[in-house]
Amino acid sequence: MKRTLILAVPFLFAAPAVQADAALAALVDKAIAASFPAGEGQDLSRLVQDDTLKTCSQMRNNPTEKQAAAILEREAKNMKHPEGGKLLGDWKKGEKLFAAGFGMRIGAIEPDKADKQKGGNGGNCYACHAADPKEVAAGTVGPSLTGYGKLRGGGDDIVKYTYEKIYNAQAFTACSNMPRIGHNGILKPEQIADVTAYLISPESPVNK
Ligand code: HEC
Repeated sequence: MKRTLILAVPFLFAAPAVQADAALAALVDKAIAASFPAGEGQDLSRLVQDDTLKTCSQMRNNPTEKQAAAILEREAKNMKHPEGGKLLGDWKKGEKLFAAGFGMRIGAIEPDKADKQKGGNGGNCYACHAADPKEVAAGTVGPSLTGYGKLRGGGDDIVKYTYEKIYNAQAFTACSNMPRIGHNGILKPEQIADVTAYLISPESPVNK
Protein backbone atom coordinates (compact mmCIF):
# COMPACT_ATOMS: atom_id res chain seq x y z
CA MET A 1 0.00 0.00 0.00
CA LYS A 2 2.77 2.34 1.01
CA ARG A 3 4.60 1.63 -2.24
CA THR A 4 1.51 2.32 -4.38
CA LEU A 5 1.09 5.67 -2.70
CA ILE A 6 4.66 6.69 -3.38
CA LEU A 7 4.31 5.73 -7.05
CA ALA A 8 1.08 7.61 -7.38
CA VAL A 9 2.38 10.89 -6.02
CA PRO A 10 4.48 11.98 -9.00
CA PHE A 11 1.53 11.40 -11.33
CA LEU A 12 -0.69 13.59 -9.21
CA PHE A 13 1.71 16.44 -9.71
CA ALA A 14 2.57 15.64 -13.32
CA ALA A 15 -0.96 15.72 -14.74
CA PRO A 16 -1.78 19.41 -14.13
CA ALA A 17 1.69 20.45 -15.36
CA VAL A 18 1.18 18.63 -18.67
CA GLN A 19 -2.24 20.22 -19.06
CA ALA A 20 -0.79 23.66 -18.34
CA ASP A 21 1.94 23.09 -20.95
CA ALA A 22 -0.62 22.08 -23.57
CA ALA A 23 -2.81 25.08 -22.76
CA LEU A 24 0.18 27.42 -22.99
CA ALA A 25 1.31 25.86 -26.29
CA ALA A 26 -2.19 26.36 -27.72
CA LEU A 27 -2.14 29.99 -26.59
CA VAL A 28 1.27 30.57 -28.18
CA ASP A 29 0.08 28.99 -31.47
CA LYS A 30 -2.96 31.28 -31.42
CA ALA A 31 -0.85 34.39 -30.76
CA ILE A 32 1.58 33.51 -33.57
CA ALA A 33 -1.26 32.88 -36.05
CA ALA A 34 -2.86 36.20 -35.09
CA SER A 35 0.44 38.04 -35.63
CA PHE A 36 0.64 37.06 -39.31
CA PRO A 37 -2.67 37.92 -40.95
CA ALA A 38 -3.44 36.19 -44.24
CA GLY A 39 -3.54 38.41 -47.29
CA GLU A 40 -1.91 39.18 -50.60
CA GLY A 41 1.78 38.37 -50.62
CA GLN A 42 1.69 36.63 -47.27
CA ASP A 43 3.19 33.16 -47.41
CA LEU A 44 2.12 31.66 -44.12
CA SER A 45 3.31 28.12 -44.87
CA ARG A 46 6.30 28.66 -42.59
CA LEU A 47 4.07 28.88 -39.55
CA VAL A 48 3.62 25.12 -39.81
CA GLN A 49 6.67 23.46 -38.26
CA ASP A 50 8.26 20.40 -39.87
CA ASP A 51 9.63 17.53 -37.76
CA THR A 52 13.05 19.16 -37.38
CA LEU A 53 11.67 22.48 -36.14
CA LYS A 54 9.23 20.71 -33.84
CA THR A 55 12.09 18.86 -32.15
CA CYS A 56 14.18 22.04 -31.91
CA SER A 57 11.30 24.01 -30.37
CA GLN A 58 10.44 21.27 -27.92
CA MET A 59 14.07 20.91 -26.85
CA ARG A 60 14.77 24.66 -26.95
CA ASN A 61 17.50 24.06 -29.54
CA ASN A 62 19.21 21.57 -27.28
CA PRO A 63 18.35 18.19 -28.82
CA THR A 64 19.49 14.91 -27.32
CA GLU A 65 22.30 13.12 -29.17
CA LYS A 66 19.79 10.76 -30.74
CA GLN A 67 17.51 13.59 -31.86
CA ALA A 68 20.47 15.53 -33.26
CA ALA A 69 21.61 12.49 -35.26
CA ALA A 70 18.08 12.06 -36.65
CA ILE A 71 18.00 15.73 -37.70
CA LEU A 72 21.40 15.56 -39.43
CA GLU A 73 20.36 12.40 -41.27
CA ARG A 74 16.98 13.80 -42.35
CA GLU A 75 18.35 17.17 -43.46
CA ALA A 76 21.28 15.63 -45.40
CA LYS A 77 18.69 13.82 -47.51
CA ASN A 78 17.16 17.17 -48.46
CA MET A 79 20.38 18.46 -50.08
CA LYS A 80 20.08 19.66 -53.68
CA HIS A 81 22.79 20.96 -56.00
CA PRO A 82 22.20 23.24 -59.02
CA GLU A 83 21.53 21.54 -62.33
CA GLY A 84 24.90 20.80 -63.93
CA GLY A 85 26.47 20.60 -60.46
CA LYS A 86 28.29 23.96 -60.59
CA LEU A 87 28.59 25.04 -56.95
CA LEU A 88 30.58 28.22 -57.62
CA GLY A 89 28.61 30.90 -59.43
CA ASP A 90 28.99 34.61 -60.05
CA TRP A 91 30.28 36.46 -56.98
CA LYS A 92 28.87 39.80 -58.14
CA LYS A 93 25.35 38.39 -58.23
CA GLY A 94 26.09 36.72 -54.91
CA GLU A 95 27.06 40.06 -53.40
CA LYS A 96 23.59 41.48 -54.13
CA LEU A 97 21.82 38.36 -52.87
CA PHE A 98 23.88 38.36 -49.67
CA ALA A 99 22.93 41.94 -48.87
CA ALA A 100 19.29 42.06 -49.98
CA GLY A 101 16.91 41.83 -47.07
CA PHE A 102 13.96 40.78 -49.20
CA GLY A 103 12.70 37.29 -49.77
CA MET A 104 10.05 35.41 -47.82
CA ARG A 105 9.29 38.28 -45.50
CA ILE A 106 5.90 38.15 -43.91
CA GLY A 107 4.19 40.71 -41.77
CA ALA A 108 1.85 43.65 -42.09
CA ILE A 109 4.37 46.48 -42.57
CA GLU A 110 6.01 45.60 -45.88
CA PRO A 111 5.27 42.04 -47.02
CA ASP A 112 7.06 40.90 -50.17
CA LYS A 113 5.05 40.59 -53.36
CA ALA A 114 3.90 37.03 -54.03
CA ASP A 115 6.42 36.50 -56.87
CA LYS A 116 9.29 37.52 -54.60
CA GLN A 117 8.35 35.25 -51.75
CA LYS A 118 10.09 32.06 -52.81
CA GLY A 119 13.39 31.84 -54.65
CA GLY A 120 13.10 35.57 -54.37
CA ASN A 121 15.66 38.23 -54.27
CA GLY A 122 17.65 38.07 -51.10
CA GLY A 123 19.26 35.97 -48.42
CA ASN A 124 19.35 38.67 -45.72
CA CYS A 125 22.73 37.33 -44.64
CA TYR A 126 23.86 40.63 -43.09
CA ALA A 127 21.10 40.27 -40.51
CA CYS A 128 23.37 37.71 -38.84
CA HIS A 129 26.82 37.84 -40.44
CA ALA A 130 29.57 40.34 -41.18
CA ALA A 131 31.18 39.86 -44.63
CA ASP A 132 32.40 42.89 -46.64
CA PRO A 133 34.38 44.92 -44.07
CA LYS A 134 32.90 48.12 -45.58
CA GLU A 135 29.37 47.07 -44.57
CA VAL A 136 28.85 48.31 -41.03
CA ALA A 137 25.21 47.20 -40.65
CA ALA A 138 26.07 43.58 -39.94
CA GLY A 139 24.62 41.24 -37.36
CA THR A 140 26.43 39.08 -34.87
CA VAL A 141 24.05 36.13 -34.47
CA GLY A 142 26.30 34.08 -36.75
CA PRO A 143 30.12 34.11 -37.02
CA SER A 144 31.82 36.83 -39.08
CA LEU A 145 32.42 35.68 -42.66
CA THR A 146 34.95 38.44 -43.42
CA GLY A 147 38.00 36.91 -45.10
CA TYR A 148 36.17 33.56 -45.45
CA GLY A 149 37.88 32.51 -48.70
CA LYS A 150 41.25 33.89 -47.66
CA LEU A 151 41.15 31.82 -44.46
CA ARG A 152 39.63 28.63 -45.86
CA GLY A 153 40.93 28.55 -49.41
CA GLY A 154 38.88 27.58 -52.43
CA GLY A 155 39.37 23.81 -52.63
CA ASP A 156 36.56 21.55 -53.81
CA ASP A 157 35.80 20.38 -50.28
CA ILE A 158 35.42 23.96 -49.00
CA VAL A 159 33.25 24.94 -51.95
CA LYS A 160 31.00 21.93 -51.37
CA TYR A 161 30.80 22.54 -47.62
CA THR A 162 30.00 26.24 -48.08
CA TYR A 163 27.30 25.62 -50.68
CA GLU A 164 25.69 22.85 -48.63
CA LYS A 165 25.93 24.77 -45.36
CA ILE A 166 24.05 27.68 -46.93
CA TYR A 167 21.55 25.35 -48.61
CA ASN A 168 20.74 23.58 -45.36
CA ALA A 169 22.59 24.56 -42.17
CA GLN A 170 20.80 21.85 -40.21
CA ALA A 171 22.47 19.14 -42.26
CA PHE A 172 25.64 20.10 -40.33
CA THR A 173 24.45 21.58 -37.05
CA ALA A 174 21.22 20.25 -35.57
CA CYS A 175 18.97 23.12 -34.43
CA SER A 176 21.25 25.74 -35.98
CA ASN A 177 19.93 29.28 -35.72
CA MET A 178 20.67 29.74 -39.42
CA PRO A 179 17.62 29.43 -41.68
CA ARG A 180 17.66 26.57 -44.21
CA ILE A 181 18.12 28.98 -47.09
CA GLY A 182 17.89 26.51 -49.99
CA HIS A 183 15.70 23.89 -48.40
CA ASN A 184 13.07 26.50 -47.54
CA GLY A 185 13.27 28.06 -50.99
CA ILE A 186 14.57 31.44 -49.80
CA LEU A 187 17.24 31.23 -52.53
CA LYS A 188 17.39 28.88 -55.52
CA PRO A 189 20.36 26.49 -55.90
CA GLU A 190 21.95 28.68 -58.63
CA GLN A 191 21.64 31.72 -56.36
CA ILE A 192 23.32 29.83 -53.52
CA ALA A 193 26.18 29.02 -55.89
CA ASP A 194 26.49 32.79 -56.51
CA VAL A 195 26.58 33.49 -52.76
CA THR A 196 29.16 30.70 -52.33
CA ALA A 197 31.35 32.46 -54.91
CA TYR A 198 30.90 35.75 -53.06
CA LEU A 199 32.33 34.14 -49.90
CA ILE A 200 35.15 32.22 -51.61
CA SER A 201 36.31 34.19 -54.67
CA PRO A 202 39.64 36.03 -54.20
CA GLU A 203 38.08 38.89 -56.23
CA SER A 204 35.23 39.33 -53.77
CA PRO A 205 35.36 42.26 -51.29
CA VAL A 206 34.89 39.64 -48.54
CA ASN A 207 38.50 38.57 -49.18
CA LYS A 208 40.13 41.92 -49.85
C1 HEC B 1 19.16 34.23 -38.49
C2 HEC B 1 20.60 34.31 -38.57
C3 HEC B 1 21.30 33.85 -39.80
C4 HEC B 1 21.08 34.19 -41.12
C5 HEC B 1 19.97 35.06 -41.69
C6 HEC B 1 22.12 33.57 -41.88
N1 HEC B 1 22.96 32.86 -41.05
FE1 HEC B 1 24.63 31.86 -41.60
N2 HEC B 1 24.90 31.21 -39.68
C7 HEC B 1 24.14 31.60 -38.61
C8 HEC B 1 24.64 30.96 -37.42
C9 HEC B 1 24.06 31.13 -36.02
C10 HEC B 1 25.74 30.18 -37.80
C11 HEC B 1 26.61 29.31 -36.88
C12 HEC B 1 25.89 28.05 -36.52
C13 HEC B 1 25.98 27.03 -37.60
O1 HEC B 1 27.12 26.74 -38.05
O2 HEC B 1 24.96 26.50 -38.02
C14 HEC B 1 25.88 30.34 -39.25
C15 HEC B 1 26.86 29.74 -40.01
C16 HEC B 1 27.10 30.05 -41.35
C17 HEC B 1 28.19 29.53 -42.13
C18 HEC B 1 29.26 28.56 -41.65
C19 HEC B 1 30.46 29.35 -41.16
C20 HEC B 1 31.65 28.48 -40.86
O3 HEC B 1 32.60 29.03 -40.28
O4 HEC B 1 31.68 27.29 -41.17
C21 HEC B 1 28.11 30.09 -43.38
C22 HEC B 1 29.05 29.86 -44.55
C23 HEC B 1 26.95 30.95 -43.38
N3 HEC B 1 26.36 30.90 -42.13
C24 HEC B 1 26.53 31.69 -44.47
C25 HEC B 1 25.32 32.40 -44.51
C26 HEC B 1 24.80 33.04 -45.71
C27 HEC B 1 25.51 33.08 -47.04
C28 HEC B 1 23.59 33.57 -45.38
C29 HEC B 1 22.59 34.27 -46.28
C30 HEC B 1 22.19 33.57 -47.47
C31 HEC B 1 23.37 33.29 -43.98
N4 HEC B 1 24.44 32.58 -43.48
C32 HEC B 1 22.25 33.70 -43.26
C33 HEC B 1 23.07 32.46 -38.63
C34 HEC B 1 22.50 33.01 -39.78
